[in-house]
Amino acid sequence: MKANKIITGLALVGAIAFTATGCAGGGGGAAGGGGDGVITVGFAQTGSESGWRSANTESMKEAFSEANGFNLIFNAADNKPEAQIAAVRSFINQGVDAIVLAPIVTDGWDDVLKEAKDANIPVILEDRTVSASEDLYASWIGLDFTKEGETAGTWVAENFGSTPTNMVVLEGTTGSSAATDRASGFDSAIEGTDIKVLDSQTGNFTRAEGKTVMEGFLQKYGSQINLLFAHNDDMGLGALEAIKAAGLTPGTDIKIVTIDAVKDGMTALSKGEFNYIVECNPLLGEKTAEVVKKVVAGESVDKSYIVEDQAFDQEQAKKVLDSRPY
Ligand code: AHR
Repeated sequence: MKANKIITGLALVGAIAFTATGCAGGGGGAAGGGGDGVITVGFAQTGSESGWRSANTESMKEAFSEANGFNLIFNAADNKPEAQIAAVRSFINQGVDAIVLAPIVTDGWDDVLKEAKDANIPVILEDRTVSASEDLYASWIGLDFTKEGETAGTWVAENFGSTPTNMVVLEGTTGSSAATDRASGFDSAIEGTDIKVLDSQTGNFTRAEGKTVMEGFLQKYGSQINLLFAHNDDMGLGALEAIKAAGLTPGTDIKIVTIDAVKDGMTALSKGEFNYIVECNPLLGEKTAEVVKKVVAGESVDKSYIVEDQAFDQEQAKKVLDSRPY
């Protein structure tokens, strides 16, 4: 059965709209957490690759605080899938009440998620998705990455699609749902336009790799490049340094479109060094904590909660920059 409804979740700063779909049982976890009422949660974070990730970690730590009734065991896997699987396995061995997982990559989760299920420990996904069967996790709280890519691609198609335009792409971590879905949404939106993809490579969502890969693009294609689509702000910011070092003007000689809308990205957009940003809201902590509490208490929850994202051009960025919480 599918049900669609909008829930307004009051985040610690600002309001977030969630679209919730489907219904799921509690996932068979320990009812009510430990005897003292404290819920022990193991959180397997991807790493600390970007400004978005820092804001997401902060939001999760605030929501899963002792004051809110949680004992949080935090692990950041430095973007190594095998280290993240080991962290989840260690949470199972420690007998936590629930596991929250922000999966680095989509594939490879079946075995460890089955182990969690066999141990009667519910798993709640946060941020990215997995390809494993839906029975193996209780709920997912995240973003519509395909729509983010589509929104970026639609803006690009409207602004550059009828003039021959050479584009390079900085992709996020290979195999992550954030990179795969953003690419497919973007590609479908620019289909049939005059935009040509000169090159597309991963920059692993980091500023440093974004810079290095852009340096390579500039060496190879020079001033042929008119447009950059970066799967996140940080890679765009790294590329911006490479573009300036090459004597070109970011936002003018090379138009830049990114995703995330973190403070540094929005600052670049306000200055005209970026041209368009699609938001990816990192403030998922409060909703995730609410879902975890329900699942541990054996209450039913929806199978997915999707955060609604906005998008900004330069003028819109200038207006909201000072009030942005991250
Ligand atoms: O999964 C969300 C993505 O992961 C963000 O866009 C990126 O900045 C982060 O590292």
